[in-house]
Amino acid sequence: MYRVWVTGGAGFIGSHLVRLLVRERPEWPIHTLDALTYAGNLANLAEVWEAPNHHFHRVDVADLPAVEALWEAHPPSLIFHLAAESHVDRSILSPLDFFHTNVGGTVTLLELARQRWQGRQDVLFFQVSTDEVYGSLPEGGFFTEGSPYDPRSPYSASKAAADHFVRAYGHTYGLPFVISNCGNNYGPYQFPEKLIPLTIVHLIERRPIPVYGRGQNVRDWIHVEDHVRALLMIAEKGRRGHTYLVGARNPRTNLEVVSLLCQLYDELTGQQDSQRLITFVQDRPGHDLRYAIEPSPHLADIGWQPQVSFEEGLRRTLQWYLAHPEWWQSVRSGQYQTYYERWYGERLKQPPAS
Ligand code: NAD
Ligand code: TYD
Repeated sequence: MYRVWVTGGAGFIGSHLVRLLVRERPEWPIHTLDALTYAGNLANLAEVWEAPNHHFHRVDVADLPAVEALWEAHPPSLIFHLAAESHVDRSILSPLDFFHTNVGGTVTLLELARQRWQGRQDVLFFQVSTDEVYGSLPEGGFFTEGSPYDPRSPYSASKAAADHFVRAYGHTYGLPFVISNCGNNYGPYQFPEKLIPLTIVHLIERRPIPVYGRGQNVRDWIHVEDHVRALLMIAEKGRRGHTYLVGARNPRTNLEVVSLLCQLYDELTGQQDSQRLITFVQDRPGHDLRYAIEPSPHLADIGWQPQVSFEEGLRRTLQWYLAHPEWWQSVRSGQYQTYYERWYGERLKQPPAS
């Protein structure tokens, strides 16, 4: 039995993990720690709010005294660390926020774990990371567990720094840890600033769908439920000190993803010609060309494989956003409107450089 902390549990992936844990491990106390930034939303936890084994704490993970007080009250034996600033475009506008949470927050938690877990082997620090730490692949390439780190955006640099700190604490202090590096997630409850939910809400609102450059960049997509099942299986059966590359062997160009969404949307709603909403805009600075994952062989050994096909996952995601307009309308606060105007205002007015 573990006493669990999920940091960032009110965000997209975190809330799916919390729901899974509350449902599948009812004997484990589950504590969600979340600062409730623009990306964190208590509505994401509505399903587990009344569950006797779930507890929510609003806290900034980089605030050492606050996290220490929580540790005194509810000492964990397993920390799933997901709290992060997670959007690459925002990291280009405001890198310091990414340094604060992704680096400072991780080191704060590691410091407490080092002091409080001294010599214990029945505990685990689980760093939930991204394939973006490996940088950009040439056409046809794949990341493997042994790929060198080569982060190129402020977001991926901050996640890479955090991963290095986790390994350094493992090496120097003997802290039991695992790290997972996953590809691009999609599914319900994803904040509508990332490619797939942004495309879906623009389809619903019949607004232009911004595609950077010519849409030829490749991302490796996985349904969020497949990802969080992998996290639980790795925590229970994975090798300590190991790195797990989590992917569903599903690399696609952005244009392919957006076109498929347009097609599925038209099938589901009877709308026609959604493809005409696709609008090529000025590229993201430093835009990584390709991410593609060769999943860790050990994942199959511990019994994990992806279960949701891309087309089925996208269809279900579209249906969820169509059925929950109140969710995505309410999370797009005033703060989001300011970000949207800063990032897309000029982009949508200017054609992309050829
Ligand atoms: P998200 O932006 O949806 O959620 C992040 C959560 O962290 C929010 O609830 C936010 O309120 C919280 N948070 C932010 N700063 C905090 C702070 N200082 N203290 C406490 N809480 C804070 O992100 P996500 O997409 O769910 O990603 C979760 C984790 O998974 C991140 O670590 C991310 O790097 C990693 N990851 C994401 C993807 C992806 O495709 N989304 C892929 C691989 C890895
Ligand atoms: P995103 O969802 O932001 O994830 P990440 O940058 O972490 O991979 O973007 C996925 C891909 O989609 C990426 O290549 C950038 C591209 N993209 C667009 O073309 N238009 C958009 O409006 C957004 C948000 C992303």
